[in-house]
Amino acid sequence: MSPSEENPAIPAIEHALRYWTQEELADRVGRQARTVRRWISGESSPPSYIAETIRRELARDERPRQPDFTFIDLFAGIGGIRRGFEEMNGRCVFTSEWDSHAVKTYKANYPDADDIAGDITQIAPSDVGPHDLLLAGFPCQPFSLAGVSKKNSLGRAHGFLDKTQGTLFFNIVNILKEHRPKAFLLENVKNLRSHDQGRTFEVIMGSLRELGYQVHSQLIDATPWVPQRRERIYLAGFRQPVDLDLQQLTKPARQPVLGDILHCAEENAEEPYTFAMNGVTVVNPRYTLSDHLWRYLQDYAAKHRAKGNGFGCSVFGPEDVTRTLSARYHKDGSEILIAQGRGKNPRRLTPRECARLMGFDATGAQPMKIPVSDTQAYRQFGNSVAVPVVRAIAKVMVPRILCPEKYPPREVNESQTKLSLGNAAA
Ligand SMILES: C[S@@+](CC[C@H](N)C(=O)[O-])C[C@H]1O[C@@H](n2cnc3c(N)ncnc32)[C@H](O)[C@@H]1O
Repeated sequence: MSPSEENPAIPAIEHALRYWTQEELADRVGRQARTVRRWISGESSPPSYIAETIRRELARDERPRQPDFTFIDLFAGIGGIRRGFEEMNGRCVFTSEWDSHAVKTYKANYPDADDIAGDITQIAPSDVGPHDLLLAGFPCQPFSLAGVSKKNSLGRAHGFLDKTQGTLFFNIVNILKEHRPKAFLLENVKNLRSHDQGRTFEVIMGSLRELGYQVHSQLIDATPWVPQRRERIYLAGFRQPVDLDLQQLTKPARQPVLGDILHCAEENAEEPYTFAMNGVTVVNPRYTLSDHLWRYLQDYAAKHRAKGNGFGCSVFGPEDVTRTLSARYHKDGSEILIAQGRGKNPRRLTPRECARLMGFDATGAQPMKIPVSDTQAYRQFGNSVAVPVVRAIAKVMVPRILCPEKYPPREVNESQTKLSLGNAAA
């Protein structure tokens, strides 16, 4: 197959051919065997949505398959992180998520995830089971020093690990301690680094290193992969040190723009987001801001501008890259409004467009299932990850998990260390 880093169908087909013959693959994706042969020989390019069809079909295939590695999905949300690693022939062996709405979306899209554990603070690490890789996009919380001072007064030494008590990060630490997986990937908001004047980040990095992991931290903006500015911090840890540069992820050749993910007249209608009218697909008017809300947002923005503050009421067009989709988007949608031409109020993104903006679906692809209300869907996508970023990280992490000896850490001299603070490897 011709190497196209942008087309997710290519790794998906390579992956599927470990289990199915070319004829079986053709049957599963509803194509002729010769079409599949042309994809494999590079004579023609498979449509990107085939990746999603293969993912679903593999999940339905009851024949035993040998995964290359196992992983656990903590603070799983709707499984954005899971997706990138499952595509690399990983098998998810444990999931924790306590929000029933997120669980509904997760189960709809991962039909094999029938047993999802709830509150992670109520789960004994020994009940999690062994795994090669721990994945977690965890909520950020302050680290209380209360417990530490008490220990000090008792004259006991304490390290970073002690300081994590009472936080959700503590639960991650305890699972790492118990199972010593080969690697982990943690994801968090950009502000994790500056939270509590940098102390939270220091405790997190110190604790992971105290557990014996080499940690690579990198702030990654999703903009090269999706038309959205979305900076997130990723911490990739390895028990056996490896050479890894998270700044060098494979990026698409072309910068995607908002127009790539917006509904278009030619696509199939999908109620309640869009419907067919006079032979074309149109966006449901319920996503258009009411006169009242649009006036309120403009007045609010003007008031803040007058005070010299920026207020986030932003209208975007098809050539733009949006601001970050947040979990609050359901409130008024003010951070990402879509221009609808003169004389018409702007509209919000539909949940389907949010799925595309986060890289869960490609336009025209077989869509992910959204079995929840708009409010819940906006929350879930706003809390999730840009899937193609995780896919790019999985591509560099998985070979290093499977074969760390092939990627020995490079000698780092002092001047290099000073220059690469953004990518601090322990
Ligand atoms: C930032 S989101 C992670 C989203 C996820 N990475 C995704 O791709 O959708 C954090 C998630 O942790 C869940 N959560 C928070 N506290 C939890 C707890 N104590 N036990 C289990 N899940 C929890 C929240 O419901 C939320 O879905």
